[in-house]
Amino acid sequence: MGNRTFTMIKPDAVANGHIGGILNMINEAGFRIVAMKMTQLSAAKAGEFYAVHKERPFYGELVEFMSSGHIVAAILEKDNAVEAFRKLIGATNPANAEEGTIRKKYAESIGRNAVHGSDSDENAQIEGDFFFSGLEKF
Ligand code: CMP
Repeated sequence: MGNRTFTMIKPDAVANGHIGGILNMINEAGFRIVAMKMTQLSAAKAGEFYAVHKERPFYGELVEFMSSGHIVAAILEKDNAVEAFRKLIGATNPANAEEGTIRKKYAESIGRNAVHGSDSDENAQIEGDFFFSGLEKF
């Protein structure tokens, strides 16, 4: 198991003023922020990032939403980071997210769900590389 994962604070949470609250929960849970930036994805870049979901019915909506405003991208470090972070963010659909999770507190719906977290060590590496150069990941 790897010690890094990748996250994005999504446009809904950024627009609603929840960057600070979410970063605080991430810090309180014991993650170290390795790299972080605020940026906005073009539709083309969002489509590339979520290419694994290309055939899903919600792909168009997902790409439109993820390119609709600023996001905060970050690489996080902790033992067993991918699994630990998925526990912290809670279920994709906030209706199923447990108390104490980021999505329970901040997500509006399955699409506007406040944060992304990598689902495997391999994807954590790919997604981190999508946003950050080697020089930024110290
Ligand atoms: P995320 O962890 O960023 O990875 C893929 C995203 O697709 C997921 O979070 C959801 O926000 C989004 N998603 C999954 N299912 C649906 C759905 N039924 N409708 C809209 N968006 C969805």
